[in-house]
Amino acid sequence: MTISRFIPPQRTLMGPGPSDVSPRVLQALAQPTIGHLDPLFVAMMDEVKALLQYAFQTANPFTIAVSAPGSAGMETCFVNLIEPGETVIVCRNGVFGDRMRENVERCGAKAVMVDDEWGKPVDPAKVEAALNAHPEASVLAFVHAETSTGALSDAKTLAALAREHGCLTIVDAVTSLGGVPLLVDEWQLDAVYSGSQKCLSCVPGLSPVTFSSRAVEKCSSAAEKCKAGFWIKPGVGVLEWRRQTQLSPHSAGQQLVCPA
Ligand SMILES: Cc1ncc(COP(=O)(O)O)c(C=O)c1O
Repeated sequence: MTISRFIPPQRTLMGPGPSDVSPRVLQALAQPTIGHLDPLFVAMMDEVKALLQYAFQTANPFTIAVSAPGSAGMETCFVNLIEPGETVIVCRNGVFGDRMRENVERCGAKAVMVDDEWGKPVDPAKVEAALNAHPEASVLAFVHAETSTGALSDAKTLAALAREHGCLTIVDAVTSLGGVPLLVDEWQLDAVYSGSQKCLSCVPGLSPVTFSSRAVEKCSSAAEKCKAGFWIKPGVGVLEWRRQTQLSPHSAGQQLVCPA
């Protein structure tokens, strides 16, 4: 087998992502690598956090970039927030709602599905009916912008319904972050994940994640700690994340989101 040099053609990417990468990000990729214990690296990570808080419109101290794609951000939220035996209401109006269901079931919890026609937004009336029918539910999970069809759901209304019924929210913002308004604090969303390769115009491989104090409290008090996947220790805050990340080979990815 002959391995030749791969020189990709110049394309204009018109899909929902991967999108064309900003020249500033490409420039950052060409910078020398620095060690993950370098004081400059530590300062850069603080900037990454501040920039992600801005993108999410949140003051959540627990706002990080998981060093893996959007699917890992999804897993991070589910494995840290869902305990075996819990009931989770999952909205499914396209491909990614069904991925949420799989995550719930792999966590040993029960997924109550609220189905809407593909291409239509999640119907708040159906969600309210499911919340009324399942007072034992602890979490409502939905996709803000369903990439498979382009349908945008009303995250603010869905989150308000969840709160009225004592549920936390897990929100997929992979295609919405940076593309449409997403006001994490104002709408009181609890666990939100995204991906770097969509509206953020970055390369794939990082998943911005933010947890509200309610979400942090739930993971910290979980009777059964999750045993696998992207387990994080949000209870100890971003300083601990920084220490953990500094000890991890995955940390290098952070350099991508802090272009010069
Ligand atoms: C809505 C949504 N959720 C999750 C994902 C998974 O993200 P990734 O492909 O970065 O793992 C995607 C990817 O297209 C997506 O569009």
